[in-house]
Amino acid sequence: MKILVTGGAGFIGSHTLVELAAAGHETVVVDNLSNSNRKSLERVAELTGKEILFYEVDIRDREGLNRVMEVHRFDACIHFAGLKAVGESVEKPWEYYENNIGGTLTLLDVMRKHGCKNIIFSSSATVYGDSAIIPITEECLKGHCTNPYGQTKSMLEEIMMDMQKADNEWNIVLLRYFNPIGAHPSGRIGENPNGIPNNLMPYVTQVAVGKRPELGVFGNDYSTHDGTGVRDYIHVVDLARGHVAALQAIEKNCGCAIYNLGTGQGYSVLDVVKTFEKVNGIKIPYSIKPRRAGDIATCYSDPAKAEKELGWKAQYGLEEMCRDSWNWQKNNPNGY
Ligand code: NAD
Ligand code: WQD
Repeated sequence: MKILVTGGAGFIGSHTLVELAAAGHETVVVDNLSNSNRKSLERVAELTGKEILFYEVDIRDREGLNRVMEVHRFDACIHFAGLKAVGESVEKPWEYYENNIGGTLTLLDVMRKHGCKNIIFSSSATVYGDSAIIPITEECLKGHCTNPYGQTKSMLEEIMMDMQKADNEWNIVLLRYFNPIGAHPSGRIGENPNGIPNNLMPYVTQVAVGKRPELGVFGNDYSTHDGTGVRDYIHVVDLARGHVAALQAIEKNCGCAIYNLGTGQGYSVLDVVKTFEKVNGIKIPYSIKPRRAGDIATCYSDPAKAEKELGWKAQYGLEEMCRDSWNWQKNNPNGY
């Protein structure tokens, strides 16, 4: 298939480009580079042995998108482009709604005007809020999102489902990612956060590489096996392959389909720290800090639906995630 990949220069997008190429798909990337670097695309080209067709275009730029879609006829779009920092979204809600919702509305409109009505959307486990049912299945009710970032994902899901109801030519696959970490085993592409990392694994790797003195563990009084928060970490290469698998749903005219992409295993913050130390032979100093606002105790998926319907299942475990995150960080201490 020929696929438009928005946000393809980012963390998950770049890994997905590698897996799409391996599966024989053709891709065109649109990214405004607001949270990425074109070097990631050079590295993808190096890994795949194929040039990457790239347009530096903002998805809010209707004319820019029109120009791309006049030149290329796409079978589907995989839509990663968006802002994703939870804390920043609380400070700058307008910017998040405008970029994520405004941008996606423009993208959807330009797509339909060019006759492409197939989209795979990067949603998030954040839409479940603090689920009463664990492990979380796709049937679980969506919950209350405590921040504008999460709201944009939840609202965009609703918008796309309404569009699909009104026009059944649309095929919409909503992929709810749990906690993506790790990096390509080559160490050539990986996560490249700006400033102080918000997420656990990039913080851990920055402590390991000596950029930060210690990890703050946000709370050790949750009702979990060791008191620290439990999450479903998933290797980014597995997640990337989940997108290749999701193309099957599009090919089968799924209408609207929702899948959790997780491993189904929950690990605590201290499990991650201990596994990282064991696998990589590096001590991670840490201290216990107060709980972080908006955090929940436990969140992990039931990923059975994706296995049953798409034949997709995560292959990598926490050890490989820790090994590959470190391999990326140590080979690229300052990112790209
Ligand atoms: P990322 O920031 O590395 O990638 C997003 C890309 O989108 C970046 O390259 C950025 O430059 C681009 N972008 C942002 N706004 C744009 C715009 N208006 N026009 C064009 N390009 C734009 O993030 P990621 O971790 O790769 O996440 C990809 C998607 O997955 C995002 O939508 C994110 O919300 C979602 N997601 C991520 C996680 C996670 O933990 N990383 C979890 C769940 C969902
Ligand atoms: C994991 C655990 C923290 C940093 C976020 C978004 C979610 C999704 C994935 C996009 C928690 C603890 C963290 C640190 C810590 N993104 N922690 N010290 O919060 O599960 O999910 O990223 O859609 O929407 O909310 O991930 O990596 O920030 O935290 O102790 O320095 O690590 O409290 O228990 P989270 P995370």
